[in-house]
Formats: sequence, structure tokens, C-alpha cells
Amino acid sequence: MSSGNIFLVGMMGAGKTTLGKALAQRLDQEFVDTDRVLVERTGVPVATIFEIEGEEGFRRRESAVLAEIATRENCVIATGGGVVLAESNRRLMRESGTVVYLRARLENLWDRTRHDSTRPLLSTPNPRAKLAELLEARDPLYRDAAHVVVDTGSQSAATLVTRVVAALRGLEPAAGSGP
Ligand code: S3P
Repeated sequence: MSSGNIFLVGMMGAGKTTLGKALAQRLDQEFVDTDRVLVERTGVPVATIFEIEGEEGFRRRESAVLAEIATRENCVIATGGGVVLAESNRRLMRESGTVVYLRARLENLWDRTRHDSTRPLLSTPNPRAKLAELLEARDPLYRDAAHVVVDTGSQSAATLVTRVVAALRGLEPAAGSGP
């Protein structure tokens, strides 16, 4: 776990990108957003990748980008909400960095995604129910991937950064306790 990479996982609307940028700044590390890399590479929005290649095609591309980014060092990496669906992605993140699950309540997630039309999985007649369904199905996967779980609510990014940094410090072995 010496790569210095920090992977942020969690649902759409959990604030991975906002927190990730602020955390990267605080730690003086590079910020990378896997969705953003995908969009830059393909030249089209995420919704278009879903339209043309289906979710399966999107997931293939997402896993490839993740594998590539995982080889870098000292990055703060915001991942897409569905990255944990593949067991191989969960293992890769755990083995190549520290994984932080930004856990949010359904109400907060809904507040932050309800006016956003860029997420294809929520383009359904009942997006709130879909969000609830995804949260229930994925919460165990986020936990499985994560070294630490940080609860998010309506606090500022700065407050959250402080809490994440404290949680990460808590993972470090105490000085002098090594072999
Ligand atoms: C997805 C989340 C999105 C994006 C895609 C699929 C998901 O990223 O990768 O729309 O399956 O939860 P964010 O979590 O950044 O919204």
C-alpha cells in the first residue's frame, strides 16, 4: 500500500469529485476523476457511451481506465459510483492504495442528483427509487472495497477533508510499531 494513491468510492451524489479535489489540494497530490478521463478519451459524455455501448461497454472502459490510473502514484482518485461492481476493481483498488467509502444517506444523494440529467442510470421514470435500489445493492460492495468509511452529510468540503485526513492517519501504523 505504498503507492500513496487514495481511491474515493461511493454513490452518485456522495461528493467524490468535490471532496477529491479539496483532499488532493490539502495533501498536495494530483487529482484524477475516472469519469472525466473516460470522457476526455472518448470525446463524448458518459450518457453517450451508455447509449452506444450499453452499461457493459462503459464498465469495460471504466475498468481499463482504473487499471491504468492505479499504476500511478500519490493521486487522489474519484471513481464512478459503479466501479465497485466488479470484484477485480475492488481488489485492484485495495491492493494499490487506500480506499475511502464516502457514505451518504439516500436523502442527501437524492438532493444532489435530482436536478442532474447527466447520469444515465437515473434516466428512469422513478429515479429516486432507482437510487434507493442502487444504494441498497452497492453499500456492501463499497464496504467490501473500503479501508475506511467516512459519513457525509451537509458539512463543507473543508470539514470533510479534515475528517478524511484524520481517518487516513488512523490507518497508519503508530511510529515505532513496525517490524
Ligand atoms: C455511475 C456513476 C457515475 C458514472 C456513470 C455510472 C454509477 O459517476 O460513472 O453514470 O453506476 O453509479 P458518479 O458516481 O461520479 O456520478
